[in-house]
Amino acid sequence: MVQGHAHPAIGKAIAERYELGTHFAAPTEDSIVVGEALAERFALPKWRYTNSGSESTMDAIRIARGLTGRDEILKIFGSYHGHHDAVMVSIGIEYDKIGPREAPASLPYGAGIPQAIVDMTLAVHFNDAENMDRRLTQLAAEGRLPACVIMEAAMMNLGVVLPEPGYLEAVREITKRHGVILIFDEVKTGICIAAGGAVEKFGVVPDMVTLAKALGGGLPTGAIGMTEEVATVVEDGSVYQVGTYNGNPLGMAAARANLLEVMTPEAYAHLDHLNERILKGCQAVIDEYGLDGYPVGIGSKGCVTFSPEKVTDYAIFKENQDAELSELAWLFNLNRGIFMTPGREEEWTLSVTHTDEAVDRYVEVFAELAAAVSA
Ligand SMILES: Cc1ncc(COP(=O)(O)O)c(C=O)c1O
Repeated sequence: MVQGHAHPAIGKAIAERYELGTHFAAPTEDSIVVGEALAERFALPKWRYTNSGSESTMDAIRIARGLTGRDEILKIFGSYHGHHDAVMVSIGIEYDKIGPREAPASLPYGAGIPQAIVDMTLAVHFNDAENMDRRLTQLAAEGRLPACVIMEAAMMNLGVVLPEPGYLEAVREITKRHGVILIFDEVKTGICIAAGGAVEKFGVVPDMVTLAKALGGGLPTGAIGMTEEVATVVEDGSVYQVGTYNGNPLGMAAARANLLEVMTPEAYAHLDHLNERILKGCQAVIDEYGLDGYPVGIGSKGCVTFSPEKVTDYAIFKENQDAELSELAWLFNLNRGIFMTPGREEEWTLSVTHTDEAVDRYVEVFAELAAAVSA
């Protein structure tokens, strides 16, 4: 939680809202204020609400399909976008099953996903805009141009993988030229890496943005941002973007307090300071012990990637990540009072309540780990 736990401003907003009623199946003023704040942060004028990241990506894809009249979608190999069928494809795949670099495999993530849905989800590798262009040209020639490209602007489910310089700009140009809707899934980056997430940080504006996680400050809330053009299909009723608890008063009260009172410019300056400090500390440990790895981070997010090679996509990650050391680092942290999200693809989220002492403790434990594995 980038806000820390039980932030008093969010707690107060939730308590006050509860007294007034928590469900009317109708918008409250807070949803308007939140929409305006998001429009300002993410440079997209139109917003709809959901209750989770999966709902945001599911509805965003449907809107893109409704707008373009196309069925296929293109994603980045290895990216997680939630638990609905269309995006539970080409993630968590073993290295030898990834398939050819030019056209990696479409494979289901677990059982219960219809093959017909799997076949409609195609994948390309991150940080390779030229291949995306070739793939879209080829799909267009086959009459299978996708409705959208859905991607994280910085991958947050392989530790942290940043876009190489020029990559996002190229993706923006390519998708526009092919008439494919570009969705930045900012469920992890939104609110967390800058006020306006990846849109602000990298200065590239997609056609749609999906949010959840940090938006509700601990309550299940999500949102979809759109251009005027994309929003027309929702406004004219041709795509139904609906849900009983969408934009519910409790979630919106929390999101309003979160955006207006907690995640302020000072909060982002604090997070940038902490991240710089922790990254620098980890680099010093790596240098001292000669570990195969490097620290990488942005805003509140970061990690140490245990790999001799720089990871720029899923295939390189799977080929090089030291999985055992990553597992060990998690356990080592937990045994010393540092609770990281479980999973060796995860990263840290610094919070506005963290201090220099807190990040120094992290570095201290990392140094202990480095000493133990080097002994
Ligand atoms: C980038 C991304 N998109 C979507 C989701 C799905 O969000 P939720 O778990 O709220 O459905 C996640 C969850 O981890 C995510 O990391």
